[in-house]
Amino acid sequence: MGESIKGLKRTSGCGEIFESNVGEKVTIMGWVQRRRDLGGLIFVDLRDRSGIVQVIFGEEIDKEAFKKAESIRGEYVLAIEGEVTMRQSPNKDMPTGMIEVLGKSLRIVSEAETPPIYIKEDLDAAEHIRLKHRYLDLRRPDMQRNFIIRHKASKVVRDFLDENGFLEVETPMLTKSTPEGARDYLVPSRNYPGSFYALPQSPQLFKQLLMVSGFEKYFQIVKCFRDEDLRANRQPEFTQIDMEMSFIDVEDIIGLNEKLLQRLWKEVLDINVEIPFKRMTYKEVMDRYGSDKPDTRFGFELQDISSVVKDVEFKVFKDAIDNGGSVRAINAKGCASFGRKEIDKLGEFVKTFGAKGLAWIQLKEGEVKSPIAKFFTEEKLQEIINSLGGEDGDLLLIVADKASVVYKSLGELRLELARKLNLIGKDNKDLNFLWVTEFPLFEYDDEEERYVAKHHPFTMPMEEDIELLDTDRENARAKAYDIVLNGEEIGGGSIRIHDSAIQEKMFEALGFTKESAYEKFGFLLEAFKYGTPVHGGLAYGLDRLVMFLAGTDNIKDVIAFPKNQNAADPMTNAPGEVDNKQLNELAIDILKATETEEN
Ligand code: AMO
Ligand code: AMP
Repeated sequence: MGESIKGLKRTSGCGEIFESNVGEKVTIMGWVQRRRDLGGLIFVDLRDRSGIVQVIFGEEIDKEAFKKAESIRGEYVLAIEGEVTMRQSPNKDMPTGMIEVLGKSLRIVSEAETPPIYIKEDLDAAEHIRLKHRYLDLRRPDMQRNFIIRHKASKVVRDFLDENGFLEVETPMLTKSTPEGARDYLVPSRNYPGSFYALPQSPQLFKQLLMVSGFEKYFQIVKCFRDEDLRANRQPEFTQIDMEMSFIDVEDIIGLNEKLLQRLWKEVLDINVEIPFKRMTYKEVMDRYGSDKPDTRFGFELQDISSVVKDVEFKVFKDAIDNGGSVRAINAKGCASFGRKEIDKLGEFVKTFGAKGLAWIQLKEGEVKSPIAKFFTEEKLQEIINSLGGEDGDLLLIVADKASVVYKSLGELRLELARKLNLIGKDNKDLNFLWVTEFPLFEYDDEEERYVAKHHPFTMPMEEDIELLDTDRENARAKAYDIVLNGEEIGGGSIRIHDSAIQEKMFEALGFTKESAYEKFGFLLEAFKYGTPVHGGLAYGLDRLVMFLAGTDNIKDVIAFPKNQNAADPMTNAPGEVDNKQLNELAIDILKATETEEN
């Protein structure tokens, strides 16, 4: 059994003892990072949240403590009384490296088995083991640092929004599904067998209702749930900094949020972020970067050469243009040195995004090499090269297809080139904040064969585009904006429709009948009958923001107990089966795997 700490009171954190404390008596408590036995002396590195300090036990210092120290092993929990002295051989790599603590008394509070993972920075253990023993993984100093940053970030956000008149209001977790577009997590109702609550994908409709209620400025740091395919920067449950304001327009929201982000970086990392941020319309980012969340830290911009090649005989280019598509290219400056294999690899790469091929022109040592040269006159080839600003040493990479494929494949190719050339490695500390504005109101859903809302059905069209709702849906733009940082969407929002006539038009355009719209969102439409302020808002992915602040590219590093890639938790084994009694109460019968497949 472990010893008690009765009569002891901690005086310092392990990482908080310095030269100025020499001569003082301290009581410290923490975990054993490491123990070294040098015969007559035992050195113990003791660790707590504040850091690590070296403690030394010896016959001459205290016989009893020394004797006990012989049984110490890694991760034991100790309580130590001692005296701070200067260290014989200082360790400049340790913040407390100038001093050490002479161990005068030792209590072993808790023994520890050998942990399945090392408790150290930059651990390279399998993710499964880390998640299974998450409580140990979270002992690591770099993980603890991430959560200190997360805590600070949330606090800065709360303070800032409070100072600006926002009220934090909680909204329900057991609710009806909101139209964010991902799959809902459902919770069966016991009171209404066969009926389900949905966990919120976001508090979207509730925050709009709070505006109808006259709260004027709302915010919440809130869990959201989306059952979607998990990519590197996505989790099934994640946290939003969610906000909504009344009597405002796009500029007010953008202005306030630039100040918020500036304050975050200043207070958490002491980094000065310049505002206002750059802004580009959706059309501009798609044309230049092929992505609505472009990484603008490097060039390799897309260029449209459709007009240059529209009359050529090369069928691939001609067909693409005749079918309403385009021919676009990236001038990979200085990449003419790529070998044939490397270029072929890029060709394979764009194919994974639907491109049928990648045409290229290599300008190397005064020569022009290209598999498509044979399709053009020399003049035409030169015209293509000139229009792309091609110079000796460049590699021109061309894709012809319908717009979505051209954008996606070249947009991804840009990123691939940057990765290959190490332009966006961990060392690139640039912070490229970018507002993307004027998103399309609709996008065509190939599966459902109808237009769906690009943001959500309550997003306000741009005033000058309202008439396009009937005539030209493809080109109708929304008062919607995203905030992008270094190629990652960290937040997004919009001005909402507060006018029932426009809302009805919108539902119509989305293929809802009046009845089906009421069935789904009746409570909101009903609320809007009683006086609705102009309103709009924005939500950040807090986890993604904290990833940037903490300098990690893994969202799991900033979530205490995350799910793995299969939306499971290897520690608690969630999701798990439940017993029949629970199922019966919910009137639920589980289909066998084969039955599910048949249906
Ligand atoms: P949106 O759906 O764009 O907007 O979500 C806002 C932000 O939340 C983050 N995010 C995620 N982070 C981690 N894992 C996920 N699965 C995940 N999904 C989204 C992103 C995103 O920018 N109600 C609207 C906001 C509004 O209109 O005010 C909304 O939810 O960083
Ligand atoms: P082919 O005539 O099929 O031999 O193609 C000649 C070159 O054009 C090859 O380098 C292909 O990779 C390339 N290519 C094929 N389809 C496309 C396309 N849709 N866009 C750009 N290049 C293409």
